Amino acid sequence: MTGLPDASSWTLDRNVAYLNHGGFGAAPVSVLAAQQGWRDALERNPTGFLVRQLPDLLTGVRAKLAAFLGADPAGLVFTDNATAGMQTIIAQLKLGPGDEVVTTDHAYVPVLTQLRKVAEATGAKVKVAHVPVPAASRSAVADAIMSEVSGLTKFVVVDHVASCSGMVFPVDLIVAQCRPRGIGVVIDGAHAPGLVPVDLDGLGADFWVGNLHKWLCAPKVTAVLHAAAQWRDGLRPLVASHRFDDGYQAAFDWTGTHDPSPLLAATAALEFFEQAGWPAVWEHNNDLAERGAGLVARQIGTAVAGNAGDGLTAAMRLIQLPEPLGEFDAREIERRLEDEYKVVVPITYHGGWQWLRVSAQLYNTISDYERLAAALIKLGIAVAARLFPADAT
Ligand SMILES: Cc1ncc(COP(=O)(O)O)c(C=O)c1O
Repeated sequence: MTGLPDASSWTLDRNVAYLNHGGFGAAPVSVLAAQQGWRDALERNPTGFLVRQLPDLLTGVRAKLAAFLGADPAGLVFTDNATAGMQTIIAQLKLGPGDEVVTTDHAYVPVLTQLRKVAEATGAKVKVAHVPVPAASRSAVADAIMSEVSGLTKFVVVDHVASCSGMVFPVDLIVAQCRPRGIGVVIDGAHAPGLVPVDLDGLGADFWVGNLHKWLCAPKVTAVLHAAAQWRDGLRPLVASHRFDDGYQAAFDWTGTHDPSPLLAATAALEFFEQAGWPAVWEHNNDLAERGAGLVARQIGTAVAGNAGDGLTAAMRLIQLPEPLGEFDAREIERRLEDEYKVVVPITYHGGWQWLRVSAQLYNTISDYERLAAALIKLGIAVAARLFPADAT
């Protein structure tokens, strides 16, 4: 595809096939330059910048991000990362004894930990719906979640795009089924901004959190939290500072001294992708993920979870690993792939199986996946290779 930015727009090590964009994102050169510009401006007069200029600057960033996310700016606040955003919400769900919260077995483990801690402290119960990989359809995923819902359910907590599986959850169907029953929906959208189209007002969830430093390629650490109008008065940051009593957005805008340069440079990330055109970026990345994952799966004799166009997949795909792994441990394989073969890719665990989770971003090419496949075969991680001694050298 022509006309889109490529690896020359990033500072990534060109000797490495970097297939873990979903992990921590990666900021383009232009975005890092914009961040440095904001840092320089701040350090010329920290007091003037932080006290007098920053409030208006944050309002400007919020307006641009709200337009991108299809949200009323009044609902949007900033938080460091998805972990902090989810904790802020979960800590304030006002659960009581006997209340139930339904989540899934795709939930990010620290989010599950946060839910269980709050449930333990309040006498509430966490129910975990099993959502198979691959799933039959969007409605089958929604049904699996709703089958755990009861008259005691106060909230459903789901991923927008799951970490362990890359599955794009049918959040619209889930909200539509929960709302008439008076059940709140909390969405962990850590991966969503820049990976899938997001329309928060159209979605109508009660709470939603999204990282900007993953697929929007903003500098680390940047995230937003969105609360529906009825929740804003009751939601505050977990860290109280000067403006804690001045309302929802004022309380979140200042939680003590932070470096605001990553957030201010998030608009440069928006410009980077808007110039390329989001539909073209999504088409490129989804197609490359599909082709790349398919290539690896074919070469190692396994399968890819899901199909392009099923509404459950985007640019982060799961490739099944052959079973059993033998003596290989997932972390050791990741380390060897990086050290010996210059391939960075995570191995995730879901549904009793281990999977390679490959991402596709504009800087990737099909040769990155070819390198992964060749490395796996060298490491003996292929169905045919299990018949012979692995050649790990
Ligand atoms: C679904 C999900 N939630 C939360 C997080 C945490 O993101 P962060 O480390 O930026 O807080 C991740 C990170 O990958 C994630 O995939």
